[in-house]
Amino acid sequence: MLRTAVIGLGPIGNLHATIHKEDPLAELVGVCDMRKERADAAAARLGVPAFYDVEEMLDALYPDMVSVATGGYEYGSEHYLPTMLALERGIAVLGEKPISNNIREAEEMVAKAREKGVCYGINLNHRFTPAARLAKKWVDEGRLGHLLFVNMSMWIMNPRESSPYFQLKALHPHTVDVMRYYCGDIEAVQCFATKAPGRVIWSTAQFNMRFKNGIVGSLTGSYDIERGHPMERCEVAGTGGRFVLEDMFRELTLYPAGNLEKTVYTNPIFGGMRDFNDTFRNRLHRFFEQLTDGCKPEEIDGSGADGLAAQKVLATAIESLETESVAYVK
Ligand SMILES: NC(=O)c1ccc[n+]([C@@H]2O[C@H](COP(=O)([O-])OP(=O)(O)OC[C@H]3O[C@@H](n4cnc5c(N)ncnc54)[C@H](O)[C@@H]3O)[C@@H](O)[C@H]2O)c1
Repeated sequence: MLRTAVIGLGPIGNLHATIHKEDPLAELVGVCDMRKERADAAAARLGVPAFYDVEEMLDALYPDMVSVATGGYEYGSEHYLPTMLALERGIAVLGEKPISNNIREAEEMVAKAREKGVCYGINLNHRFTPAARLAKKWVDEGRLGHLLFVNMSMWIMNPRESSPYFQLKALHPHTVDVMRYYCGDIEAVQCFATKAPGRVIWSTAQFNMRFKNGIVGSLTGSYDIERGHPMERCEVAGTGGRFVLEDMFRELTLYPAGNLEKTVYTNPIFGGMRDFNDTFRNRLHRFFEQLTDGCKPEEIDGSGADGLAAQKVLATAIESLETESVAYVK
């Protein structure tokens, strides 16, 4: 059984901590937040000790793994410090997305994990569903033939006005990760963005992309649309067929080229995904499973390197937006 802890106890850290508590592969041994009332409330709820300082917790408990569910500016400025402290001690980290709002810090975290030989994952939870996995299997089996294009979109409401690039940096780690999951590395990006009435940030954006293997793609994302209706759609097409994945886990349809019979996977009523929180459960369980099985750091599914690659694409999109030109991922 893995001894685990959670750093950062906002709504998302509390969800991580609940999942640690419930997962059969993990034993939650502590929680830490510099906001005492948050640490104390989570500790009381979950029956584990509270800490208010990351180093103190790591040195007192020496857990096998920590979730880093801090936030900060652009939802990513606080991850660096706790992540580096854990990795330095050889403790595995599952960090929240975005890996960081700062590419240099993201690179340092990925390099530190590599230097220490430690498993480092990011909560790229949208790819951790049975439907997303099945779509990946279809791609790997060649059922789509030679891949040609991908259309991805995601839209939710997030009224925060923290930074002009908040939506690009904080929403799209998910969408870009899903696109990379099916289609590989992205080499070139062109981005336009707009502002919904009353907003000052680039709250809706449209991206064009070219992948290293020649696949072309588009991505639309928005922080301007209230939840309720579907919120995410991924379509990948090749010479052999096309799939459409609706809402990460709700429904997946394969349209084979030249064949009018389609294959549909629908999230089952019994034993299926219940809601969005189950994407976290699946993602965390997979990390626990990989750690338990002694997986190599480079084999981590949804790794720090994946989180960094997505963030570099988004930095490139921002460069494109600022320069009104096609930009190339460095
Ligand atoms: N994967 C997803 O689907 C998903 C969805 C929503 C949010 N998120 C991510 O989850 C993260 C957390 O979101 P939130 O809304 O819970 O944030 P939040 O700001 O409410 O909570 C973060 C907590 O971390 C604590 N913290 C920060 N630095 C610390 C440090 N060095 N030591 C101890 N405590 C520290 C803060 O005091 C705060 O209580 C964000 O990065 C966000 O992008 C992910």
